[in-house]
Amino acid sequence: MGLEGSVAIVTGAAIGIGYAAAERLAERGARVVIADRNGAEEAAARLAARDLQVTGVTVDVSSPEEVAAAVGVTESIRGRIDVLVNNAGIYSTLEPKPFEQLTPQEWRQVFDVNVIGVFLMCQAVLPAFKRAGGGRIVNISSGVAFKGNPWMAHYVASKGAVISLTRALATELGRHQILVNSVAPGFTLSDGVHRNPTLVEGVRESSTRNRVLARDMAPADLVGAIEFFAGAQSAFITGQTLVVDGGAYFH
Ligand SMILES: NC(=O)c1ccc[n+]([C@@H]2O[C@H](COP(=O)([O-])OP(=O)(O)OC[C@H]3O[C@@H](n4cnc5c(N)ncnc54)[C@H](O)[C@@H]3O)[C@@H](O)[C@H]2O)c1
Repeated sequence: MGLEGSVAIVTGAAIGIGYAAAERLAERGARVVIADRNGAEEAAARLAARDLQVTGVTVDVSSPEEVAAAVGVTESIRGRIDVLVNNAGIYSTLEPKPFEQLTPQEWRQVFDVNVIGVFLMCQAVLPAFKRAGGGRIVNISSGVAFKGNPWMAHYVASKGAVISLTRALATELGRHQILVNSVAPGFTLSDGVHRNPTLVEGVRESSTRNRVLARDMAPADLVGAIEFFAGAQSAFITGQTLVVDGGAYFH
């Protein structure tokens, strides 16, 4: 399966890592749907203005009804779905907190988007994948799931769940030629991160220092791995998580 002519949904792709992934997949010939709670149409219009085949759909991935509608619209416009990149997530807006101070409500908010959102999107695309004779799911996890970073236990646990879900789904869906893999980024200067100067000040310097490749990481550093798992080169790889962090954590 090459990307030329394939149909890819990228969630949370109005800005940040998702936008960079949508741009890359579209540059490789995929017809991309940017699925985001905010700014999906505007982001799609920016890429469509460059003659890339990109459309936008507004969706909150934690809502079963909105997810069903977004996947339905994609199928009716594009006729098929081949690739799902589950990138939408809550991270840069989280206030770092000791474990004792986290509330059940904060846990539920993070899990609603980062885990249940992935579950809902995967379930919703399944019928289309089966009709197409297979498909690719690329889940965006995080290096924090391996490192167990402090002050955001709910976020760390949610990204660990994404890795476990990747494995369980790979096992369950392999017989349908549906391949499920995950990319685990290190600290990335995404749009969301840039909007939180406290986060940048607190994490940027130590992240860079702890990398073998000691420089800032940008969304562009992730698009190769996402493209790889979406395309023909990874046709015999499933259930895997690839850490992309400049050599901070060896997985
Ligand atoms: N930036 C990092 O350092 C980093 C590191 C590891 C993993 N990640 C993960 O990568 C992904 C992207 O991160 P980013 O920093 O590019 O994010 P970002 O904040 O720049 O962009 C996130 C996008 O997701 C959208 N979104 C949020 N909740 C949504 C929902 N319920 N439904 C639909 N869209 C929603 C937002 O509107 C936004 O467009 C996230 O899953 C994040 O956890 C980020």
